[in-house]
Amino acid sequence: SCGLQTLPTEFAWSPPCLRALTAIQRDFEIDDEKLKRIAARFEEELYEGLSKHGENLTMEATWVHGLPKGTETGSFLTVDLGGTNIRVCWITLRGRGCQPEIVQKLSHIPEVVKTGEAHQLWGFVADSIDHFVRERGLHCTASSPLALGFTFSYPVRQDSLTNGRLKTWTKGFDIKGVEGEDVVSQLDKALRAKDLHIDVVALINDTTGALIASSYMDAETVIGAIFGTGSNAAYMENVGSIPKLKTPLPPDTPMAINCEYGAFDNSHRVLPRTKFDQMIDRDSPRPGEQTFEKMSAGLYLGEIFRLIICDFHDHGLLFKTQNVSRLARPYTIDTAFLSALESDTLPNLVGKFESISGVEATLGEVQLLRRLAEVVTTRGARLSACGIAAICKKKGIREGHVAVDGSVANKHPTFKSRWAKALAAILDWQSDRERDPIRMVGAKDGSGIGAAVIAAMHLRY
Ligand code: GLC
Repeated sequence: SCGLQTLPTEFAWSPPCLRALTAIQRDFEIDDEKLKRIAARFEEELYEGLSKHGENLTMEATWVHGLPKGTETGSFLTVDLGGTNIRVCWITLRGRGCQPEIVQKLSHIPEVVKTGEAHQLWGFVADSIDHFVRERGLHCTASSPLALGFTFSYPVRQDSLTNGRLKTWTKGFDIKGVEGEDVVSQLDKALRAKDLHIDVVALINDTTGALIASSYMDAETVIGAIFGTGSNAAYMENVGSIPKLKTPLPPDTPMAINCEYGAFDNSHRVLPRTKFDQMIDRDSPRPGEQTFEKMSAGLYLGEIFRLIICDFHDHGLLFKTQNVSRLARPYTIDTAFLSALESDTLPNLVGKFESISGVEATLGEVQLLRRLAEVVTTRGARLSACGIAAICKKKGIREGHVAVDGSVANKHPTFKSRWAKALAAILDWQSDRERDPIRMVGAKDGSGIGAAVIAAMHLRY
């Protein structure tokens, strides 16, 4: 069902074009049986990551012991360093039932910072905090420092809530001098250099933030997940189920686990990688890492799509007489355009595509782009269901809310429904069910609110 029959004849794609499209559809399709096999392998990798260090999924202990009660209150400074933006917030918690109050400042992380040196990164973070604290008139002195909850959305190995060594950069970051180092001491140093009396009281991942922020308001939360620039989830384990962890804590102590599941199948056992996935990996700053994320997360969906359309062009199937030099540049197409392709009208899309790529596409070509975008994002959404299904199976979770934040989940028009359909297929839900027992709910601002709630939980201990 390529839609050809419903198109007016002037839109009809040529037979070679149709053949190429069919081949792409075949390579990107993951049927229900395959989905189940991927989810089953995913579950094995969850166990492996909890058992041993050095596995694909690093299943990081977060030292967040339990879900919030909903009674935590107070005002906290938080900073969230994600893949695209930095967000500094002043968050006031008033208890479950009252929406937390957020005053925030969002800034784009400059490209030079993403590939520069450690001192540039921490200088940039400390500057952002400094500006915010001054603008808001927040006072911090040596005798009464401000407590900071720091959301750092990269894989870190922690042996307490207040430290963490960066294992490897993900999501295209490539900053020298941070891998292997404790990111809290690096930030501390930069804050001290600015005479800012601010203490990092909690270092957390964005998925842990989503889990905790959502649980604070909604006791049915079972998993926190991000479907954004990157892809990952967090859930609650008991210390006794984490054999690799050497700790005197009693086995029934709860511990939030940051799965770091973007690294699923780094050993290439189940995921059906296409030549485009291999190209993305080869040209990334960390080849061989984040195999799953590179096939499903927002940073890469637009790039996979771009590689496909460049391939069509190389075979004379698209934009025949056009100058495609701008389109040839890596990462020129982002997920926002894929979202537009599935929601905007064809004539509008012609204009949007031209402003991004400099290429004047015909209506028929844009129709083909829409089909290719659907193929790429459908695979992304279906894969994204595998990780969540695996956690549910491992934990025996039969119902509850998956708290989700991230640009793909929030902004893409069809991602959520495709994800839900794939989850239902993997978990074999009856088709006549009244509603999905495990559902995605929004965890907007989860990173910030979660950091504040965790800071409040921690300071109370
Ligand atoms: C990447 C990071 C992970 C984060 C995810 C979503 O996978 O390694 O820590 O949670 O992106 O932002």
